[in-house]
Amino acid sequence: MRIGIFLFILALPPSLSADDARDRLIVETVLKLDAFDYESSSAKVKQAIGRYLAKDAGSEQYYELVERFRIIDELPVLATLASGEKINARAAGLLVAIGGEAAISTAVAGAGELRPQLLMSLGSVNDPKSVVALEGLLEGKDLSLARQSAKALTGSPAGQLRLLELAETDSLAAELKNGLSLALATSVDPAVRERAAKLLPLPASLGGQALPAVAELAKMRGMVEKGEAVYLRACFTCHKSGDKGIDFGPALTEIGDKLAREAMYTAIMDPSAAVSFGYEGVAVETKGGQKIVGYVTSDGDEELAMKVPGGTLISIKRSDITSKEALPVSLMPSALVATMSRDELVNLVEYLTTLKK
Ligand code: HEC
Repeated sequence: MRIGIFLFILALPPSLSADDARDRLIVETVLKLDAFDYESSSAKVKQAIGRYLAKDAGSEQYYELVERFRIIDELPVLATLASGEKINARAAGLLVAIGGEAAISTAVAGAGELRPQLLMSLGSVNDPKSVVALEGLLEGKDLSLARQSAKALTGSPAGQLRLLELAETDSLAAELKNGLSLALATSVDPAVRERAAKLLPLPASLGGQALPAVAELAKMRGMVEKGEAVYLRACFTCHKSGDKGIDFGPALTEIGDKLAREAMYTAIMDPSAAVSFGYEGVAVETKGGQKIVGYVTSDGDEELAMKVPGGTLISIKRSDITSKEALPVSLMPSALVATMSRDELVNLVEYLTTLKK
């Protein structure tokens, strides 16, 4: 008898009260309704959805519900999620899509110390609304806000193009330019790199010592730990090693087995010398005027799937594509070496040689 009761208790989902169950039922029901309109639904339904969402804020299901019903009441939560330590393009993208420029202004004004993180998330959203809102912050009296916003704009193709346009018409304050040249020189889009080289050239002193030839570099030895720090700064945003890093370029988990030192130097200093199979860059333009740069992961009759910087997979309807071009050079920027000294580069390669099975 006791065992029977015990099993019965175990069978109940943990911490699911009757109220939770009712909220869930309401959410499941509205999910089945094609024509459900969140805005005009009753306060009771809204509250149930709100409680349900609050339990799981930031989960994939949370984002799906917020997106599907365009739940404006979640804008403050989206702003908080977009202000975390890591860039959160999903939360920021929904904030922009649902709340538009007004929601962006409110979120930025209310972000306090988390403002730089929020701006970076907003900057990663490849949407004109986000670009316009961030551009509006470039001109105010608050120089640190202007700098943070300019940096954020380097985070998406749309933002990068806008910065180049501003540089072309001489509309960027000199104080903002310095920080931008490096970010644009290391864009995945070769067209951006090329224009940036003319409009916002890298400061000559950057990188320090001149680099010796690859054969000379390959004879040098560095420090693994210091090299890992360089890796985390310069490579981590596009490569995984083990379970660390972002999945965009090929995983470097076993690169120490695959490449000799010389080949590692070449891969870093001249990425276009040999582009890895399957990672050939493609630039797509859509009817909506969006430019998407990345590589193709699947090429169907109806849709083209692409992986873009940040590791996000996006699918584009064939009928929305106005142009599709193979890039002549690697998606991996060659200016990365300009972000490190010779010693840092040697340390980095030393670290890469330790990445083995
Ligand atoms: C903006 C994204 C990006 C950044 C940042 C980046 N890479 Fe790459 N990397 C790629 C892509 C995409 C490829 C595949 C295309 C190619 O081979 O050129 C690649 C290829 C490579 C390869 C060849 C891999 C193989 O299996 O042959 C190596 C090695 C490499 N990267 C090392 C680095 C190192 C080291 C850094 C940091 C200094 C770095 N990458 C930074 C995107 C990036």
